[in-house]
Amino acid sequence: MRVVSGIQPTGNLHLGNYLGAIRNWVSMQDEGECLYFLADLHALSMPYEPAELTANTREMTAALVACGIDTDKSILFNQARVTAHAELQWLLNGTARMGWLNRMTQWKDKAGKNREGQSVALFSYPVLQAADVLLYQATHVPVGEDQKQHLELARDIAQKFNNDFGDVFTLPDPIIPPAAARIMSLRDGNAKMSKSDASDMSRINLVDDPDTIVNKVKKAKTDPEPLPSEAAGLDGRAEAKNLVGIYSALSNESVDSVLARFGGQGFGAFKPALAELMVETLKPISERFNALRRDAAALDAILVKGAERARVLAAPTLARAYSALGLSR
Ligand code: TYM
Repeated sequence: MRVVSGIQPTGNLHLGNYLGAIRNWVSMQDEGECLYFLADLHALSMPYEPAELTANTREMTAALVACGIDTDKSILFNQARVTAHAELQWLLNGTARMGWLNRMTQWKDKAGKNREGQSVALFSYPVLQAADVLLYQATHVPVGEDQKQHLELARDIAQKFNNDFGDVFTLPDPIIPPAAARIMSLRDGNAKMSKSDASDMSRINLVDDPDTIVNKVKKAKTDPEPLPSEAAGLDGRAEAKNLVGIYSALSNESVDSVLARFGGQGFGAFKPALAELMVETLKPISERFNALRRDAAALDAILVKGAERARVLAAPTLARAYSALGLSR
C-alpha cells in the first residue's frame, strides 16, 4: 500500500481540508508507506506573491505536523524540491488529451468566461497532479470529494500510457471519507469551504482562536426551521445539512444519532454545541501549530529530509517512463 496526497500551500488550512483529507492522511500513516507534499508547483497556476509562497509552504508544513503528520513515519516534502514531478508531468503531457482537460470542473470554475486569459499551468494542472501520484506508484490517494475528478483523470492518463508504451504505472484509487467529503461554506451551503473565498467568515481556519470560532458559527447562515429528527429531513436545507455534517464528522457519530439528540431544537441550541466541539478539536492543533510555525530552519529541515527520501522512491518510475518513451538520458 503506497499512500500519496498533496495540498496547495496557499493560505491557511481550514476545517474542510482537515475533515476531507488531512485527518485521513494522519490515520493512514500506520497502514502503509505515505508520501505527503505541499503542492507549491501547482500554486503557479494562479497569480501569487513569491515571498508569500515561500512563507506559506513553511506554515503549511507546520500545520500538517500540528495535525499529526509524523515525519519519522511519513515522507513530508514540497513538490519543487523533487524535480521528478515536473519532469514526469512533461512526459505525461504527450498522453493527456485536450478534451479530457477541457472537461475538468475545476478548470471551468476557475477560468470562468476568461479562458483565453488563464495560464497554461491552470489548464494542465491535472496532468501535474497525475504525475504527483503516478511517480510513486500510489495505490491510495486520500482526498476530499472535489479532487475525485482529477484522480479519475490520473487513472485515464496511466491507462493510456500503459496501453501505448507498456506497463509503467499503477492505477491509484481515491480514498474519500464517507462523511465530510465536502464541507461547505458557512455563508453559502451550496459553495464549498475554500481558501480562496474572499470572506474569512465562510470558513473555520485551524488557527482561529475560540472567540473567532464561536463568532463564525453564531453568524453562520441557517434557516428558520428547527432541526429534523432524521437525516432525510435535511434534504433541501443545504446550510443545516452542512452544520450537522460537520458536527457528525467531528464527533464521529452518524448524522441520525446527532439528530436524535438535537432534532426538534433550533439553531440557538445547536450552534453553541457545534462551536464547542470545534474549539475542542482545534485547540491542541493550533497550540502545536503556534509552537512550530516560527522555527523556519526546523521546518526547512523537515522538507529537505523528506525530499531526499521522496527522490529515491521517484527515481525508478521516472527512469522507466523515459525508457518506455524511447528517451535516453
Ligand atoms: P487543496 O489544496 O485544494 O485541498 C487539499 C485537500 O483538502 C480537500 N478539501 C476539502 N475536503 C472537504 N471539504 C472541503 N470544503 C474541502 N476543501 C478542500 C481536498 O479535496 C484535498 O484533498 N489539487 C489538490 C492538491 C494536489 C493533490 C495532488 C491532491 C496536488 N497534487 C495529488 C492529491 C494528489 C488541491 O488543490 O487540493
